[in-house]
Amino acid sequence: MEQGQTPSEKPGNPPAQASLHELRTAENSAAYSLPKLQSMKQTNPHLKLLDVGAGSGTISASFAKLIPNGHVTGIDVNPNILPRARAVAEAAGIENIEFQEGSVYKLPFADETFDITVCHQVLIHIGTPWEALREMLRVTKRGGIVGVREGDYEMECVWPENSELSKFHELMAGLMRAGGGTPIAGRELVSWALKVGVEPSQIVLSYSTLSYSMPSERKACAQGLCDQLRGGGLRAKALKFDLGTQDEFEDMAKAWKDWMKRDDASLVLLQTEILIEK
Ligand SMILES: C[S@@+](CC[C@H](N)C(=O)[O-])C[C@H]1O[C@@H](n2cnc3c(N)ncnc32)[C@H](O)[C@@H]1O
Repeated sequence: MEQGQTPSEKPGNPPAQASLHELRTAENSAAYSLPKLQSMKQTNPHLKLLDVGAGSGTISASFAKLIPNGHVTGIDVNPNILPRARAVAEAAGIENIEFQEGSVYKLPFADETFDITVCHQVLIHIGTPWEALREMLRVTKRGGIVGVREGDYEMECVWPENSELSKFHELMAGLMRAGGGTPIAGRELVSWALKVGVEPSQIVLSYSTLSYSMPSERKACAQGLCDQLRGGGLRAKALKFDLGTQDEFEDMAKAWKDWMKRDDASLVLLQTEILIEK
């Protein structure tokens, strides 16, 4: 195990906060960008793609499969997640990919390095997301694209209604705010792009949903959220910011387990996507 890792962060296991994220692929989380990627690949099979805030890199890895003659770089500010991202790519036999440490506020790349720069569920967590967009645009080539998909926590629909699950919703929003983030990031994406000089004509805006309703999806969702409530970074941060007690987190975890078992249960979250043509 590398120094600074918790036991759950060893490369073979997803960290508690990432197990749910590892269900994500380019196909289910960045579909809005794929028609453009495919058309760019027709003229340039050697596309260079940057995934900012890659986490454990399942989206980056599936992008790498889509551009076998191209190259993907995944970057994350958290060095402890990088061994997991490398292990995920290696297990999938993907070689045209690398992961490195770095912040979206100061990307360690020259201007106009990448054909495609993407991020997924990153701007929602950070204090000045428009500065991140400015930096993503800087490292993207003229004629290239920047793609972003972020959730909107006030556009969430959970069934059946339950007071513990409502408290969990408040906890998540509180955690984002405590970290300087914006729980309603999705609806602000276009404003942030305009703020850094992007013209409306450069933006293609779309919406999709993130949902968990099939039994396997409910199980993965509830298990991932219980892991986060019972251990890992989310719980530690929530305790640090005094956003709840251990007993309350345990009640929420039990409510997610009950929710998982209900055949009529579902969770749907609106996602906003912008594709900026540079
Ligand atoms: C919710 S996770 C999303 C991970 C991945 N994009 C996905 O959707 O599965 C957010 C990620 O952004 C990273 N992150 C947060 N702030 C960042 C920053 N300033 N620069 C780069 N990465 C950052 C976190 O470390 C975390 O891995």
